Amino acid sequence: SSLSPMEHVTLTTPAAGVLVVELNRPKALNALSDALMKDLGVALAHAQQDQAVGAVVITGNDKAFAAGADVKELAREHANREDCVKKACLKTWYDAMGATSKPKIAAVRGYAFGGGCELALACDIVIAAENAQFGLPELSLGTIPGFGGTQRMIRAVGKSKAMDLILTGRRMKADEAERSGLVSRVVPVERCLPEAVEAAQAIAALSSPSVALAKRAVDAADAFVALDEGLEFERQLFYDTFDLDDRREGMAAFCEKRKAAFTDS
Ligand code: CAA
Repeated sequence: SSLSPMEHVTLTTPAAGVLVVELNRPKALNALSDALMKDLGVALAHAQQDQAVGAVVITGNDKAFAAGADVKELAREHANREDCVKKACLKTWYDAMGATSKPKIAAVRGYAFGGGCELALACDIVIAAENAQFGLPELSLGTIPGFGGTQRMIRAVGKSKAMDLILTGRRMKADEAERSGLVSRVVPVERCLPEAVEAAQAIAALSSPSVALAKRAVDAADAFVALDEGLEFERQLFYDTFDLDDRREGMAAFCEKRKAAFTDS
């Protein structure tokens, strides 16, 4: 099924099983407005219901992944705390990201600041271009990260570096981001989106139910469950795979020295 074009995101399907969502507000360095996040949510909901989509890539342009929440809109729309509560500020952003349980890969070129950095952190894999820069400069605006940054940065890079980044607001370049575990790979700028698409294609080619189980198991660990609990949860999901036709096929194919033919069942 296809979607009608949207103002703030551009959708393409450059490879089998892959939906690319390109943030498209270049004049504002892809600052995340409510309208943009609504479009992103529509795109991700579409990915969720389209069986042909196995993984999603979220990207920006060569200069900016996203330079943060739209500060002008935030300032205009929210006079005080009560206003934030009444308008459920940023709540719809969480809903947008939660619209699909399928794997999401952030392909980050250029600026990923504030909400843009948090958007990357909310993805399952982050692939960075050599020119990528990450930062949480919210304190310089007198506010704090509000789209998951305080919770996800510490999981990604540990306490000392998370505190360093959040409290000083300094920028982190791609090599430091890779060293510290925030990103999984650093590639030349022109390779960033192709590499992310290839990774998404590799995921999409696998058995979708086993991909979903693996992602749930890793997400459980990321949610700071106690190790015992996490190991038990993982073992239960591992058992679940033994009911999959694709698990039977995958193991049979290995034993028979041939390529598995998955049916997503
Ligand atoms: N919100 C709204 N507009 C923004 C924006 C943002 N976050 N970031 C950039 N823009 C706009 C600029 O206002 C400018 O618009 P005009 O041409 O109309 O003036 C245009 O994009 C280009 O930006 P610059 O001229 O500033 O470009 P630059 O190359 O000189 O600087 C930058 C780039 C360092 C990224 C700088 O734009 C910047 O510091 N942006 C803000 C970064 C920031 O503070 N992000 C955190 C936002 S708060 C947040 O995200 C809250 C949360 O946790 C959810």
